Amino acid sequence: MSEINLLSKYPKAKRNIAARVSGKFDNREIALKFGKEYFDGTREQGYGGYKYDGRWLPVAKDIVEHYKLKAGSRVLDIGCAKGYLVKDLMRVCPGMEVFGIDISLYAITNCENETIGRLHLGDARSLPFPDASFDVAISINTIHNFDKSGCIEALKEMTRVAPTAGYVQVDAYRSEVEKSLFLDWVLTAKTHGTPEFWKALICEANYNGDYYWTTL
Ligand SMILES: C[S@@+](CC[C@H](N)C(=O)[O-])C[C@H]1O[C@@H](n2cnc3c(N)ncnc32)[C@H](O)[C@@H]1O
Repeated sequence: MSEINLLSKYPKAKRNIAARVSGKFDNREIALKFGKEYFDGTREQGYGGYKYDGRWLPVAKDIVEHYKLKAGSRVLDIGCAKGYLVKDLMRVCPGMEVFGIDISLYAITNCENETIGRLHLGDARSLPFPDASFDVAISINTIHNFDKSGCIEALKEMTRVAPTAGYVQVDAYRSEVEKSLFLDWVLTAKTHGTPEFWKALICEANYNGDYYWTTL
């Protein structure tokens, strides 16, 4: 288990925090449905239009190298959205068996052709897969959408389906300035805190995989 940033090559998003703050109450309600508006509505409601552009390719390369994945390795992306990381992992490492799961029917039915049949509809807190069915479970910016007990359930599920390796990334803040920016920006996260808060929660869940933070 180690703190490692496997998203260091993911492009930094542009954020207009002032625009997000106004109308936040309504936008939060819309975002929490994880429907069309969240992915392909306005930036105030979520992604502001999420199209495949290869932005996950360098991240996929780092994941494949870090976990020494190869053809035949089995990888699960929990909270996979439209499956772009699933697609890019398969592009980087042909022959690898990559799957995704997400609560959003809109996201998984608006996937790229290469991932048709690989994206499942389901809940990160109760994964519909057998024990030890994956070599690595990845969950990026998803489990913070649960309350604390839900985060623990989701981390335990990651360990159950992939006991040997995992990577989880969650929203965090390292200072009062970052916390204030985060609180203005956040739409869907229910659990958030400092890296120390998350490390304690990870320990409580007996999660042994790797982890890192999304900060503003
Ligand atoms: C911020 S997005 C992150 C998506 C992708 N991992 C990424 O980093 O771009 C959060 C994702 O979590 C999904 N999600 C929310 N609640 C979930 C749940 N209970 N189980 C599985 N996925 C969930 C949403 O539909 C959305 O795709």
